[in-house]
Amino acid sequence: IRARRPDDLSPIESGQVPEEISPLVRSLNDMLERLSQSIQMQKRFIADAAHQMKTPLAGMRMQSELALRETDQEEIHRSLEQLSKSSESATRLVNQLLALARAENQTPENKPLAPLELSELARTTVQDWVQLSFTHRIDLGFEQPGHPVMVRGNPLMLRELLSNLIDNALRYTPAAGSVTVRVRTNPLERQAILEVEDTGPGIPASERSHVFERFYRILGSNVEGSGLGLAIVREIAQQHDADVEILNNPHSQDPKYPGSLFRVTLKLQRRPDFIEDIG
Ligand SMILES: Nc1ncnc2c1ncn2[C@@H]1O[C@H](COP(=O)(O)OP(=O)(O)OP(=O)(O)O)[C@@H](O)[C@H]1O
Ligand SMILES: [Mg+2]
Repeated sequence: IRARRPDDLSPIESGQVPEEISPLVRSLNDMLERLSQSIQMQKRFIADAAHQMKTPLAGMRMQSELALRETDQEEIHRSLEQLSKSSESATRLVNQLLALARAENQTPENKPLAPLELSELARTTVQDWVQLSFTHRIDLGFEQPGHPVMVRGNPLMLRELLSNLIDNALRYTPAAGSVTVRVRTNPLERQAILEVEDTGPGIPASERSHVFERFYRILGSNVEGSGLGLAIVREIAQQHDADVEILNNPHSQDPKYPGSLFRVTLKLQRRPDFIEDIG
């Protein structure tokens, strides 16, 4: 093993080893296989990220070259507008890549989860989005129970998770629609539930398992995005041992806009001073 090249993760030949150490060799090979898969995934991710970055950068280059050759003020203005759009996409992509890297680095092993009150965290996060909801002309609402909802979590990461769900709801829901963020509990099942409901186009059942993949976007939407938001949501949910489901919005009234309901289910923590409240 010592004589191998550092990047050689091929299995150890198990044919010639004494029988008593063959289980050890099998476990080592198993580990090498998993390590190699994880390295392959990292490599693919870097290649995908670079590929995604190429599109806005190529756009910026083309538009700036066009603007430099142009003398007509209106045409120059149009090119600059496109340039600004492409740089917005590039910035969004880089910010989402950084958010994903942050989420992957803040594991419960190096940043232990601490008790926190979920309604307060959700309420303050929703406040950050009020301004954008006005811009998009969407009625952004918040519902919480009349008692504290304790969970164990990393507040920065849970904010990041909720922000990505609200961002999607606001961006994919047409103007005059509504988005509701809701915190509730299911005391019998010991669940704390965080929901984001919108009156947008919804996500077809066949797409629901794919939208959590990195860089996956549903074709046909004219909304800009990098395809990483729900991958960030999934990463953070996994670290909190939480489930994320996509359902139809049960309150939707327009069959053309069935809406979505994103439901994150966390474990409800017991705390002596509010057990009476939740029964
Ligand atoms: N609330 C929603 N309503 C309708 N479609 C949605 C909703 N949320 C997500 N989607 C679909 O799922 C896809 C993946 O969402 P995700 O947040 O991962 O990426 P994105 O919004 O495209 O990019 P970004 O990383 O910039 O958020 C979106 O492209 C969109 O097609
Ligand atoms: Mg998104």
